[in-house]
Amino acid sequence: LYNGDKSYKHMFKIVLTGDQGVGKSQLLSRFTKNEFCLDGASTIGIEFSTKEVQINGNIIRTQIWDTGSGPVKSLAGSGWVKDWNGSADLQFKHHISKLEFSFVEAGQERFMAITKPYYRNAFGALLVFDIQRSQTFEHLDRWYNEICENAGANCCILLVGNKCDQHHMREVMSEDAQNYASERNIQYMETSALDATNVEQAFLLLIQDIY
Ligand code: GTP
Ligand code: MG
Repeated sequence: LYNGDKSYKHMFKIVLTGDQGVGKSQLLSRFTKNEFCLDGASTIGIEFSTKEVQINGNIIRTQIWDTGSGPVKSLAGSGWVKDWNGSADLQFKHHISKLEFSFVEAGQERFMAITKPYYRNAFGALLVFDIQRSQTFEHLDRWYNEICENAGANCCILLVGNKCDQHHMREVMSEDAQNYASERNIQYMETSALDATNVEQAFLLLIQDIY
């Protein structure tokens, strides 16, 4: 069942969500390139990366989307849709048009409003918080609702408590996160993009769940 000249059978879009600084970009970078950067910059615009994985002998191509949750000061000079691997996947580049892109003003700060195109056609979402910042856990509902409203009811969600290498600084108990996940009928996993704990496992669990 080959799709033209494409060697993969399925293509899944996965989105990363969660507060600013929880480690979305570093999780993506660890999973797709096995790289980590301790002083990586906040993401501006949308970036994505693809990775092929094998499940039950089938090659599955995942396209993982990442966006910044922080305020945007200037977009000057930044490509607002970037492909991590350098090779533009035109189908997806054109998925979002500049018309769908705007700013929201909140106090003194401006945020990008890209919600609808970001979640459109997503099969799965990693809902990420930082185990050493309870605020990022308290904000989960906002992200959870955003996924449900925009990606549709069939979108698989995995709750991820990142930075578990910082267990001495823990503010969110595993049990509380596990309860949050159970109440919403989703799974929970703790990861570290820094030391690579569970990163591949988390993505694979989500992909398997979609599959
Ligand atoms: P925005 O793009 O601003 O929304 O943030 P983000 O969620 O993409 O966070 P990012 O991946 O940029 O990580 C934020 C900071 O946390 C960086 O300084 C990372 O080096 C650090 N970080 C990310 N993952 C881990 C981790 O697993 N352990 C530790 N100790 N630090 C991490
Ligand atoms: Mg980022």
